[in-house]
Amino acid sequence: VPAPPKPLIVKDLEPEVDDGKKKVTIFFGTQTGTAEGFAKALAEEAKARYEKAIFKTVDLDDYADDDDEYEEKLKKESRAIFFLATYGDGEPTDNAARFYKWFTEGSERGEWLKGLSYAVFGLGNRQYEHFNKIAIVVDKILGNQGGKQLVPVGLGDDDQCMEDDFAAWRELLWPELDLLLLDGDDPTGVSTPYTAAVAEYRVVLHDPEDAPLEDDNWSNANGHAIYDAQHPCRANVAVRRELHTPASDRSCTHLEFNISGTGLAYGTGDHVGVYCENLSEIVEEALQLLGLSPDIYFSIHTDNEDGTPLSGSALPPPFPLSTLRTALTRYADLLSSPKKFALMALAAHATDPTEADRLRHLASPSGKDEYAQWIIANQRSLLEVMAEFPSAKPPLGVFFASVAPRLQPRYYSISSSPSMSPSRIHVTCALVLEKTPAGRIHKGVCSTWMKNAVPLEKSHDCSWAPIFVRQSNFKLPTDTKVPIIMIGPGTGLAPFRGFLQERLAQKEAGAELGSSVLFFGCRNRQMVVMLLLVLECSVDFIYEDELNNFVESGALSELFVAFSREGPTKEYVQHKMIQKASDIWNMISQGGYLYVCGDAKGMAKDVHRTLHTIVQEQGSFDNSKTESFVKSLQMNGRYLRDVW
Ligand code: 2AM
Repeated sequence: VPAPPKPLIVKDLEPEVDDGKKKVTIFFGTQTGTAEGFAKALAEEAKARYEKAIFKTVDLDDYADDDDEYEEKLKKESRAIFFLATYGDGEPTDNAARFYKWFTEGSERGEWLKGLSYAVFGLGNRQYEHFNKIAIVVDKILGNQGGKQLVPVGLGDDDQCMEDDFAAWRELLWPELDLLLLDGDDPTGVSTPYTAAVAEYRVVLHDPEDAPLEDDNWSNANGHAIYDAQHPCRANVAVRRELHTPASDRSCTHLEFNISGTGLAYGTGDHVGVYCENLSEIVEEALQLLGLSPDIYFSIHTDNEDGTPLSGSALPPPFPLSTLRTALTRYADLLSSPKKFALMALAAHATDPTEADRLRHLASPSGKDEYAQWIIANQRSLLEVMAEFPSAKPPLGVFFASVAPRLQPRYYSISSSPSMSPSRIHVTCALVLEKTPAGRIHKGVCSTWMKNAVPLEKSHDCSWAPIFVRQSNFKLPTDTKVPIIMIGPGTGLAPFRGFLQERLAQKEAGAELGSSVLFFGCRNRQMVVMLLLVLECSVDFIYEDELNNFVESGALSELFVAFSREGPTKEYVQHKMIQKASDIWNMISQGGYLYVCGDAKGMAKDVHRTLHTIVQEQGSFDNSKTESFVKSLQMNGRYLRDVW
């Protein structure tokens, strides 16, 4: 069995050097590689610009093994630049979590960073409530603890163009670095708009005859004791069913991954990361556009033949030896909008000069508005863009390094509990299917894969995916008697199905349960007329029977459902909450926990405001007391959110 893919996060292998040169450490907290790419691009350009300085890029997790080492090493830094992404409900990336926890808990440290000059660039999305929270917080603490801020914190916005935000921030940074590093010399390099160099893997072609019939790089046991994003575990799809009734114009899939015998474990409220595949029709389109055979059997490498590393910017570690069809199916993100550096890479390989010029223009500062409109606002996919520039046929090494980003795992809140379902991880996934402004029908990669998955109960040749579990802090209180309030419309119900399974198991084991309420929301019920009988059944009231059973068995005290499209006005979960304000207040007053899961941009914000209203009215508090009350619930882990 060929080796599974290597870790995506590369340890920095640069040797420690100290020959009196000024040293700048560039830290990155990255999830999908963008922050790491910016960090390395800045380092490359800075190395050319300041010949007398040393730039080191460092993964925040690799920097130190424990809190003491963070402190000890950071104390010795004189110049530091941070690239920090913010995720979910204002959370750090996995590789920055340990640093962030330690750094934010150290208010008593005083002004210990007086010797440090620093700059922070954040990667976030303005659509979310906690836009760039991690970068903003770290920037503030660095300043409070004595550090000298070189430039205001950069707020990269993925909703627009992060590359432009980075370019603008970097232009502010150069003059400050000039003062710090040049000692009166002129900079050697001239600053250009941000475009990472066209990076390229070394490609080795293998005999297609050697390709295994079933191009399968994954074994069940992956040789690692721990499964994570870099070392996922192959899991078969045991069960798949549609949760909406046929009358629904949408789709929601219930999927069960079989994890028996894999050693993969999970907890209620955790997330499962799923590496999915592109549809075969999408792969065919990509093959056409590249003008290459699906049977090319090749490997990609980040080193030269003599083993020395390839120069240039950061490349993700290679994927295993594959046919081109498999590589496009499993590893290439073909449906996201291309970044500007992808356009530059396409331009470099366009044989038609007019196409090359237009691609370069779209990636340039003067083409900023066109890029924002033609590509971003229209949600044009990489394949759509490539179809507009048919002469641009990059070679494989360039395509996988600079044009198509690596297909990322998708995360889902697990909808089962190991107490009830120890050998299956359940997922509840709404189908993403929408028409883009340019008229393309966009099918979400993972939700479409799940909808089409063939379960083991239907065929021995069933679908499977590499998966892994990411732990969360979205957990039931340890004391089963503590009251809980759950709010989860749509697929936000997922973790609560797990919670209720767990409570049922606790009850069956003889535990005494505190009261629990669930606020669920969906669009409508459906009336079915059969033989003069009017039956009521729901269109998108997912897991309706199970929820009713939870009430009957006492795992759930009360279920409140808001149907948003039945009456003349919308009824949402927060409206139901207002109706139950005094019950909610009583439960909170008894030490209850409050959980919210689902859409972050609309629902979670509205529910948050509603919670304030309830606390203010029921507790007869003024504004500031209300604020601090809700904050303290959050600080004490009694108001938890799993939102996306
Ligand atoms: P709608 O689609 O009719 O607007 C699950 O998606 C349910 O959440 C649907 O009934 C949906 O209603 C509802 N929903 C949409 N926006 C919401 C919001 N801001 N707050 C609460 N529920 C919302």
